Amino acid sequence: MTITLAFDVYGTLIDTHGLVKQLGVLVGDKAQEFSNSWREKQLEYSFRRALMKSYLPFFECTRSALEYACKLHQVDLSTEQKSELLALYSELPAFSDTLSGLSALDRNQFNPYAFSNGTEVAVRKLLQASDTEQYLLDVVSVDDLQTFKPDPAVYDYFLQRSAATKEQTWLISSNPFDVIGALNFGMQAAWLKRSGAALFDDWELSPTLVVNSLENIGEQILEKSASVSFHSGLPKCQIS
Ligand code: 2OP
Repeated sequence: MTITLAFDVYGTLIDTHGLVKQLGVLVGDKAQEFSNSWREKQLEYSFRRALMKSYLPFFECTRSALEYACKLHQVDLSTEQKSELLALYSELPAFSDTLSGLSALDRNQFNPYAFSNGTEVAVRKLLQASDTEQYLLDVVSVDDLQTFKPDPAVYDYFLQRSAATKEQTWLISSNPFDVIGALNFGMQAAWLKRSGAALFDDWELSPTLVVNSLENIGEQILEKSASVSFHSGLPKCQIS
């Protein structure tokens, strides 16, 4: 059976803190803190817009969150500086393991997709810049549904677009809310825990698999899938 992989983009393939150096020039030593607030607020705005059914493209969440981060950190950026930061955000770098991880996937065993809150145009631009678009079958964007992760509708839409079943599909994401969203919908999900300090929410759902790099993601998913089907097969064997 071919396994369908839904790779989250922002924070998983692409580093949302890849602008910290450029931020440092503008905001000094609070650059990392500023970047964290920017990202957290961007996601909060996406959750709120999905709940309120008041959709605007993800880039608008990014833009409003930048304004919020400026206020929070009392940073006075000019309109030009903000535009420059937003332009750089559309060219964020990939993580160091992204290209090697995606290019190593055996296409006889895996159907890999990008699956994101970002619009298709924005995501393709990022993937092209990191030379990774060629290793993905397609880009599935929540923009088509005008809502955001973790609305169950977007995971369902992913299955429609990839013509896959829940059982054969894995989400791979660094974002715990996305992993929980996929598990809640019934997919399997690997949490990419690149940093030892990263935390997973203490909810009733746990990741199917935890990995610390994309380097050998294919092997790890195959191994886990084999052990899951072996263990789920055991009771049936014993009964018969
Ligand atoms: C993405 O959908 C969750 O921001 C993340 O790309």
